[in-house]
Amino acid sequence: MATGLVRRSVFSRVLSSSPAASKFLTARAHASEAQAQQVEPTARDSTSLKTFRIYRWNPENPSKPQLQDYQINLKECGPMVLDALIKIKNEMDPTLTFRRSCREGICGSCAMNIDGCNGLACLTKITSGSETQITPLPHMFVIKDLVVDMTNFYNQYKSIEPWLKRKNPPEVPGKEILQSKKDRAKLDGMYECILCACCSTSCPSYWWNPESYLGPAALLHAHRQETIRGSQEKWISDSRDEYTKERLEAINDEFKLYRCHTILNCARACPKGLNPGKQITHIKQLEMGIARA
Ligand code: SF4
Ligand code: SF4
Ligand code: FES
Repeated sequence: MATGLVRRSVFSRVLSSSPAASKFLTARAHASEAQAQQVEPTARDSTSLKTFRIYRWNPENPSKPQLQDYQINLKECGPMVLDALIKIKNEMDPTLTFRRSCREGICGSCAMNIDGCNGLACLTKITSGSETQITPLPHMFVIKDLVVDMTNFYNQYKSIEPWLKRKNPPEVPGKEILQSKKDRAKLDGMYECILCACCSTSCPSYWWNPESYLGPAALLHAHRQETIRGSQEKWISDSRDEYTKERLEAINDEFKLYRCHTILNCARACPKGLNPGKQITHIKQLEMGIARA
């Protein structure tokens, strides 16, 4: 894990506009009076104004994290939370830092916690309430503002060897390894994962054991590598993979796999509608020999 970063805990308290934190906000308000002028919305229709309360932390000025309010006119903003973040960054505060790329739920980079739920900012509609709070993914080290350190998450993904492994060459050298429609259908609910980490960072078991428990995202991908081909072996569920037995042995571990207690926060959090908890249950059944890949 990276050091020198702030860890974002769901139980950690950040400074807000509450009276207890007013001295910090007052100081910032004086310091950025000119900026505050810019933050002022151009339209005055109070029914369309909404406050976005956003987690801020800057490694170059490492004081306590704060929640900073930005008020924007929804009539001048797109419908999604990412639209609001982009508007704030473009028009009010260029120092606000967050990840985004595709803007259509494909890259997974805009994952964050919005009003207490993990999700993709580009797929989350701005609600009609007067305020929305946006914080980084929970229990991750914060690099800056809404950007978290994904190193451990990616290392865990790498550890399950998320690629096709074969003992035998393809039947026709240089050609694709074909798959029946039935075997291909067994990958539904797994191949759609975009590695956004919304599931893993909503999982209590992952919060408490982030380095030893693989977490729902990595295990979902391990299962993909495990499943299918009648009684033969696979990437646990990919009919073309021939290392199912070895893959199952590699994760048959008290911490790597069995820290999952089937709480299913992961399924609630997944913005792609996947159910990693169900896939993990199937891996456990495969390990116990009560299911077939
Ligand atoms: S089912 Fe629960 S414990 Fe298992 S990965 Fe999902 S959230 Fe975590
Ligand atoms: S399973 Fe869903 S929440 Fe988890 S990483 Fe994949 S897309 Fe994101
Ligand atoms: S910007 Fe790519 S998933 Fe949101």
